[in-house]
Amino acid sequence: MDYWVAGFLVLTAGIILRSRLWFRLRKWKTRDGEEEEQEKETKKAMIPKGSLGWPVIGETLAFIACGYSSRPVTFMDKRKSLYGNVFKTNIIGTPIIISTDAEVNKVVLQNHGNTFVPAYPKSITELLGENSILSINGPHQKRLHTLIGAFFRSPHLKERITRDIEASVGLTLASWSHLPVVHVQDETKKMTFEILVKLLMSISRGEDLDILKLEFEEFIKGLICIPIKFPGTRLYKSLKAKERLIKIVKKVVKERQMATTDTVRKTSPANDAVDVLLRDVSDGGSSDTPSQPLDFVSGKIVEMMIPGEETMPTAMTLAVKFLSDNPVALAKLVEENMEFKRRKLESGEEYNWSDYMSLSFTHNVINETLRMANIINGVWRKALKDVEIKGYLIPKGWCVLASFISVHMDEDIYENPYQFDPWRWDRINGSVNSNVCFTPFGGGQRLCPGLELSKLEISIFLHQLVTRYSWRAEEDKIVSFPTVKMKRRLPIRVAPVERTSHIPVEDH
Ligand code: HEM
Ligand SMILES: *[C@@H]1O[C@H](CO)[C@@H](O)[C@H](O)[C@H]1NC(C)=O
Ligand SMILES: *[C@@H]1O[C@H](CO)[C@@H](O)[C@H](O)[C@H]1NC(C)=O
Ligand SMILES: *[C@@H]1O[C@H](CO)[C@@H](O)[C@H](O)[C@H]1NC(C)=O
Repeated sequence: MDYWVAGFLVLTAGIILRSRLWFRLRKWKTRDGEEEEQEKETKKAMIPKGSLGWPVIGETLAFIACGYSSRPVTFMDKRKSLYGNVFKTNIIGTPIIISTDAEVNKVVLQNHGNTFVPAYPKSITELLGENSILSINGPHQKRLHTLIGAFFRSPHLKERITRDIEASVGLTLASWSHLPVVHVQDETKKMTFEILVKLLMSISRGEDLDILKLEFEEFIKGLICIPIKFPGTRLYKSLKAKERLIKIVKKVVKERQMATTDTVRKTSPANDAVDVLLRDVSDGGSSDTPSQPLDFVSGKIVEMMIPGEETMPTAMTLAVKFLSDNPVALAKLVEENMEFKRRKLESGEEYNWSDYMSLSFTHNVINETLRMANIINGVWRKALKDVEIKGYLIPKGWCVLASFISVHMDEDIYENPYQFDPWRWDRINGSVNSNVCFTPFGGGQRLCPGLELSKLEISIFLHQLVTRYSWRAEEDKIVSFPTVKMKRRLPIRVAPVERTSHIPVEDH
């Protein structure tokens, strides 16, 4: 339940609160039974402590109220101090164990012999499809994950996509300086979508991209919706949009299939995700080669549009927000990037992706942004069997929320966690076991395959932004609920600047 995380919660909570009586009764009944069982087990093992709150609604309201506040982590903190690092509660009508412990989170992410499967609400599963990479577990997920991960990490792709990102960012930023006010949240979204579509299926700016974007937006709305499939309802509309979306994608896949001969396939590297999947299918790589390869590939491409679509623009938007509020960090970022630019100009070399990845302060800024932003505040899993982790028993059938935000905002791990301090990453340099205590991209078996690309994309964006433009941000606030967003979509005013290296940023 990672991407839309809190969103789903609210909405499922909404369903429970608003829905018809039978729904309530059904929920109520199953919970009763479960609770008795838990009672029995508690006696012999250590189910985490905690309160299940009110019948049915449990502690949902407190959870949501904290989500709307400026410190969403309060809900966890309060229970953590009462019951310990791992505790149980009841949100959205499901008893759930919340872990705020970095090591327990790690075990959950590692998946412990296929114990923990993703747990999504029904409407999501329906929209994603039963075989989506996001909801499946086991060999198919592993295979797809490895395939896509290897492609996203390949130097060939990075080289190509660096040029594409530079071009998109360049055009986008140039257009910003002509607008009186730019809402960063909306504008970065257009840009990252363009890049994502390029990455997945090499479609460039134009009519196809626009239609694709429209349909995709319609589709994704349903990911936060009430799971009733009748004409006119959100889910119905979203499913229809998905059909149209798949149709568009299918056309692209089909053209590609026809255009690629065996020799091309063997001699040239894959250019995008369509290539990767088509090759896999035609190699008969998977033991269960799908009978409808076109449908299969198109479906996978559409699913892969989901995880990158909202996370990327949010990361960029919050980076701009944090930098606007921290002129000293911004000045240092400008300095590093101007120095880099000057070096490139002097040597006359082209920028390459490894250059962008080696800008150390820029990556401090990116890490710090991801730590504080908590775009994905945790992942939801369901235990398929009883598991014991660090002395806690997680009984079969329970949901587990591995809360990343609790770890990222833990003052025992990060000194002054609410302070935007990119320099802390110099001090940490691997010592705080950053693998365990810093998991914006998840970890283990489902570690985000887009990790490096995301960092590359943000670096390029920041580089061009701070070396060519200056901006002034209007007052705005971060809201974490249902998903992380800027309340006013972060309005800024952008102006081009002629910077020479080492000139500090102007006042804010
Ligand atoms: C800043 C941006 C991003 C963040 C914070 C992020 C975060 C995450 C996290 C936490 C997961 C793990 C979910 C889980 O364990 O259930 C994940 C999975 C995934 N991400 Fe990302 N992501 C980002 C960008 C992207 C991009 C740009 C793409 C693709 C182009 C992408 C593709 C995926 C895919 C396909 C998965 C599923 C992997 C699997 O289940 O095997 N992500 N991401
Ligand atoms: C990128 O350029 C730098 C120096 O200009 C060089 O050292 C490095 O090997 C290049 N990396 C790639 C992947 O081409
Ligand atoms: C950012 O965090 C990652 C851990 O996910 C770490 O490996 C990397 O060194 C950090 N980057 C910087 C510049 O500190
Ligand atoms: C972190 O880096 C600093 C200097 O760059 C070094 O003095 C220190 O020993 C490093 N710490 C660890 C734990 O590696």
